[in-house]
Amino acid sequence: MSIIKELEDKINVLLKEVIANEKITILSSSRPDLGDYQINDSMRLAKVLHKSPQEIAQAMVVEMEKDSNFTNINIAGPGFINFSLSDEFLIDSMNSIKDDIHNNIDKINNKTIVLDYGGPNVAKALHVGHLRSANIGEALKRLLRLLGCNVISDVHLGDYGRPLGLVLLEIKKRYPDLEFFNENYEGNYGELDLPITNADLEEIYPSASIKAKEDEKYLEEAREITFKIQNHEKGYYELWQKVVEISKKDIKTVYDLLGISFDIWKGESDAAEFIDEVVKTFNDKNLITVSDGAQIVEVKRDDDNSPMPPLILVKSNDSYSYETTDLATIYDRMQDINPNEIWYLTDERQALHFEQVFRAAKLAGIVSEDTLLEHIPFGTMNGKDGKPFKTRDGGIMTLKGLIDLVISEAKKRINPDIDSNMQEEIATKIGISSLKYADLLPYRRTDYIFDTDKFALLEGKTGAYLLYSNIRIKSLLNKAKREEIDYSKISKISSSSDRKIMLTLLELPKILKKSYEARSLNDICDYIYNLTALYNNFYSENRIITCEDKDLRESWLVLSNVVYQVTLLLLDILGMQVPEKM
Ligand code: ARG
Repeated sequence: MSIIKELEDKINVLLKEVIANEKITILSSSRPDLGDYQINDSMRLAKVLHKSPQEIAQAMVVEMEKDSNFTNINIAGPGFINFSLSDEFLIDSMNSIKDDIHNNIDKINNKTIVLDYGGPNVAKALHVGHLRSANIGEALKRLLRLLGCNVISDVHLGDYGRPLGLVLLEIKKRYPDLEFFNENYEGNYGELDLPITNADLEEIYPSASIKAKEDEKYLEEAREITFKIQNHEKGYYELWQKVVEISKKDIKTVYDLLGISFDIWKGESDAAEFIDEVVKTFNDKNLITVSDGAQIVEVKRDDDNSPMPPLILVKSNDSYSYETTDLATIYDRMQDINPNEIWYLTDERQALHFEQVFRAAKLAGIVSEDTLLEHIPFGTMNGKDGKPFKTRDGGIMTLKGLIDLVISEAKKRINPDIDSNMQEEIATKIGISSLKYADLLPYRRTDYIFDTDKFALLEGKTGAYLLYSNIRIKSLLNKAKREEIDYSKISKISSSSDRKIMLTLLELPKILKKSYEARSLNDICDYIYNLTALYNNFYSENRIITCEDKDLRESWLVLSNVVYQVTLLLLDILGMQVPEKM
């Protein structure tokens, strides 16, 4: 259990009689000049206990004064209690976490959660918009695991429907002699090489898509091919598998570079086999109405105050919608994993889609009433002009293009003395980590501006600053090791600087909980920056290694090590890799 939680429990026991077994909470002080913490419960308790807030606060103070862990206890205003923690308490706290910082983290729950993020589409280049889903999703996965949840991440590849028909049609137009299109196709050509690369695919799809818009016949042909794929018609089905394979390989390379990984690489197409069952479930419950030849499900509620159109389960041409595949995917996940919760990360534009799907899933009983289905939307990454981030000449920026850009920006700032064969690896880590930090720093739902000139600066609220500082603490600890300086415990507090660091370390569990509840990493980003800045201030004020006072030197080194461990843990939660040097 975290230190603050333990302390809160302890205070509740201490005050048991005064507060008649009610519960009080301790909060970090909003007025540090008055104390480290505050208790604001007197006003609420006054109503319950029929006494004045002042009277209750005074009685609490009398009890607290009996405990030497609390100092500087005072009452402000109508009954706000302020207090500080004794040096002894802080020292003991730090010593209790120095060997394992997990001792100061509260496990939240052990729920099983499916995290659906990434959502790349086969044969389409990953673009800047895909960064946020993958980046926020990956960090949430790591946070949830730290808090004790069982998390299963699924990339949920867009590998189904019309786009694939278009891609195959365009391939057919360009390479009509390909064995896969042979009418008499019999054998298994899975082994055949395709004369097509991922780069070709990324050009083929947009051009097919333009043709389909201009040419009704072309679109119809593509529909027929989609149908063939979905019916597993030999050559087409195998060619489709080939295309998925090529594309998936490329997508994986980009995610690998970003340090983003998935437990499951399923796609929309994997849900296809459950669609009949899902439609039947809706049918059995009489939830389907036919409208203009389509089978629809009404999901509106009386208390809706924005439009809630019906969900289209089966289109009039007998094909299925994006909603249907998502319902079938939920069905699959419930059978296969039976999670307590499913979280989806996409941008705001899919909010209605998910609301319809979630309501329909509950209506049909595909999930139980208490299964949490949650859409976690995020805002847009914009350029300095306030519009979605583009390439220099105004084109769509691919994710790979963005990665190249951040690496080259990072290269400009690397210490030139570093070995040239290490430069690339280091620049990759700095560039990508700085990109990730800039992306996680704003509250998830706000649009933000990605400033290519600033994101990798070595000062300010940047990933590069955090990496640099982390490396510096590590080299301090290494130096102590080389010089065989022992340090095993904290026994002294020297100034307000190290005291502030200790108090900030105690805040960690609260920050983690807040981030979890908001499904946003911004509080962790702020926290790690604040902790780092406090430490750097302390570092510049003191000559740690050469300090004459042995106890003080030892205390400072242990504290440095705790800060190092905590920042390293949080950088890892944010998915930021720390280079050896920079
Ligand atoms: N492929 C989709 C897109 O690009 C995102 C998938 C999100 N997940 C889901 N289960 N619908 O918009």
